[in-house]
Amino acid sequence: MAKIIVEKSGPLHGEVVISGAKNAVLPIMAATLLSEETCEIKSVPALKDVEIMCQIIEALGAKVEKDLANNRVNITARGIETTEAPQELVTRMRASILAMGPLLARFGSATIHLPGGCAIGERPTELHIKGLRALGATVEVDTVNDVITARANRLYGNTIYLDFPSVGATENIIMAATLAEGTTIIENAAQEPEITDMANFLNKMGARIKGAGTDTVRIIGVESLHGARHNVIPDRIEAGTFMVAAAITHGAVLVKNVLPDHIKPIIAKLRECGAEVIPVDEGLVVQATDRRLTSTDIKTLPYPGFPTDMQAIFMALLTTVDGASAVIETVFENRYMHVPELKKMGASIKTDDRCALVTGNARLKGSKVQATDLRAGAAMVLAGLVADGRTEVTNIYHIQRGYERFVEKMQGLGAKIHMEE
Ligand code: UD1
Repeated sequence: MAKIIVEKSGPLHGEVVISGAKNAVLPIMAATLLSEETCEIKSVPALKDVEIMCQIIEALGAKVEKDLANNRVNITARGIETTEAPQELVTRMRASILAMGPLLARFGSATIHLPGGCAIGERPTELHIKGLRALGATVEVDTVNDVITARANRLYGNTIYLDFPSVGATENIIMAATLAEGTTIIENAAQEPEITDMANFLNKMGARIKGAGTDTVRIIGVESLHGARHNVIPDRIEAGTFMVAAAITHGAVLVKNVLPDHIKPIIAKLRECGAEVIPVDEGLVVQATDRRLTSTDIKTLPYPGFPTDMQAIFMALLTTVDGASAVIETVFENRYMHVPELKKMGASIKTDDRCALVTGNARLKGSKVQATDLRAGAAMVLAGLVADGRTEVTNIYHIQRGYERFVEKMQGLGAKIHMEE
């Protein structure tokens, strides 16, 4: 099984270019199912999750031309033969539930096995189901076989209040509503930039969506959608990961292809720790050379709050700074699986339900640790960069699911890191 080996690396230096956003490209690929015409997507990150989404769309009968070496994917969803997504693929990635809304809206039915992905809590689907039912679909959940089946001859616009601003549910409902009769309003919608990117793509396809990126999204249904071209936005979590890597190693790194507006809480928290974050024409410079970093508290929240996807990564940094930090995870109920792994490396962390107290000033030591989920995997690599000796990170398929050329990009900044089969 492949693993990543990291050795104590000294300050990271140089430049890194951020790839297209995983969490934007996945819903955008699902959205191509809404049209029979060709959609051309650029800045597509070469990731395992993107490959799985390509396979799911292909298995449904669409034509997928992928050139991930050049970060492009063209999809033509003309010859759709089935509206049942293949179980083996779907259960490997939670985002596959995003095929549900488009398939239902365009073909009148969708069958999806309950999705997999990172094991970071319950991750139920009731908000997706509530939304699709509100649009007039009949949704059956087979809890024995873990299958959701939705049917509707026609979807009708409605007002839907989400009890929690779920990213995936907001996306699924927006996609389904594009072809519904009448107007749909989603209240307490999630506001993540990736939703705005998907909505911009859908609008290029002829959809009429307003308010994406705010808590109220209005979708006026149209008869059909056409092909479109789109460039995916940069990945704010990948940007945040390299920014924290610069800070934890007391380095100086220019992060290119980043949208600072999307990462305000990450910039604010790095500055609170004492790192400099300097906007320049090409991106952001993160500078922590020759300075002591101090503790800060973090509470994860839906956008525009501090992203849950940065919690593990930031915690790795907090284990090394002066003073104690409190971390509160409000988005997922089981997102501290990285804590025992960081503790193996010598970190001092206590957890109680959704709170973690990080003591700081740990002298981390190289260890054998697991990437317990995608972002936890990145956290382990960052901890390994400053730990004495050699750190071996296993289960790295999680990292490959969400980071494009992670090892190579780290090496480009001077990190002593390589992959072993
Ligand atoms: C997306 C992101 C993921 C990120 C998460 C939160 C993608 C592909 N993945 O995941 O990286 O960590 O947003 O920012 O974009 N919930 C319910 N009922 C539902 C749906 C969700 O209770 O029907 C709960 C979940 O259990 C979780 C919380 O809402 O506790 C957030 O989930 P959601 O926003 O839906 O995350 P995803 O779309 O799965």
